[in-house]
Amino acid sequence: MTRPTRSQTVLAPPAKAAIFLVVTVRPSAENDIRELLGDVSGLVRAVGFRVPDADLNCVVGIGAQLWERLYGSPRPAGLHPFRALEGERHTAVSTPGDVLFHLRGTQLDVCFELAYQISRRLSGWADIVDEVHGFKFFDERDLLGFVDGTENPEGIAAVDAVTIGDEDAEFAGGSYVLVQKYLHDLDAWNTLSVEEQERAIGREKLTDIEIPDELKAPNSHVSVNTITDPDGTQLQIVRDNMPFGSVSAGEFGTYYIGYAATPDVIERMLQRMFIGEPPGNYDRILDFSTAVTGSLFYVPTAGFLDDQPPHSSGDQPDSGEPPEPDRSPNTSSDNPSDGSLAIGSLRRTGTS
Ligand code: HEM
Repeated sequence: MTRPTRSQTVLAPPAKAAIFLVVTVRPSAENDIRELLGDVSGLVRAVGFRVPDADLNCVVGIGAQLWERLYGSPRPAGLHPFRALEGERHTAVSTPGDVLFHLRGTQLDVCFELAYQISRRLSGWADIVDEVHGFKFFDERDLLGFVDGTENPEGIAAVDAVTIGDEDAEFAGGSYVLVQKYLHDLDAWNTLSVEEQERAIGREKLTDIEIPDELKAPNSHVSVNTITDPDGTQLQIVRDNMPFGSVSAGEFGTYYIGYAATPDVIERMLQRMFIGEPPGNYDRILDFSTAVTGSLFYVPTAGFLDDQPPHSSGDQPDSGEPPEPDRSPNTSSDNPSDGSLAIGSLRRTGTS
């Protein structure tokens, strides 16, 4: 079967607002998730068309185990569950995730409405295991105070960095995405002088100018994430990290999200960050930032999502009568049956 290769909107201007939903799909809910995946583009249109300036966009990623359940083989060459990494001081944990919904826009309200509409569809057969609302901080800075995203590739270099090509022809036009939720110890970070912080990152804090190679610390974040192929060409990924947090909970975080044409590049960066090359030269920012989640997903083309292929092998046939999934509620608050956000007069409960 020839499938259209139009990519999802992986490449977008740095988001002003984002919601990250990581979802697990219960046993026997394969048909439900297939239906939803096919409907996501319609949901984005339904919400986004009314607010064109919001540039609403939703990228969907599928985890290795769900891929197996839904489609079997062939499978994207690089797709596997996130591999945890244990360094001498820091660990990159691997946490469950069947589907990633990466919602972005210029304003949070449309992202929230789309997240809500997706959550209504998931109700009874899937669980949102992680939800993060990211916001844009001053000057494109992260909560460590540094400008984040400067060295992202642009234009055709960005397309090449994130798009699977002929090396995995069946999945050409797709991509991979790796997410990790980091929590920062801001109190400890803020005991460092600005110079020490700049040494940890590898760029100047105020000006965002990169520290020259001969002066840059080998364990700075920029040093460990600058990697090349055997020819000396720099290997690149596209990131759209977002700050998030809660002042009352003392939670200050960076939601890391990296897209690439192969997970190998991101995994090598993680290897250098957590283990170090040579071992022990781990990323200094990890002394102030703890990864509390980690999941890898394949990002199919838009055409693949809209036009779901049949399952070609494995234990979950595409047709027949699967057993009923566990349909207990997936959130603590019940969704109103009228589909409203339960705000004001839209809510139809009790005697009103
Ligand atoms: C705590 C989480 C993280 C924070 C706060 C963070 C922050 C930053 C900052 C401030 C920069 C410098 C400006 C820029 O070029 O964007 C940067 C660069 C970069 N980061 Fe991160 N980052 C985080 C996690 C990661 C992870 C997990 C990876 C890869 C697996 C990664 C890969 C990169 C790359 C490739 C660069 C560009 C290096 C260069 O070419 O100069 N980052 N990051």
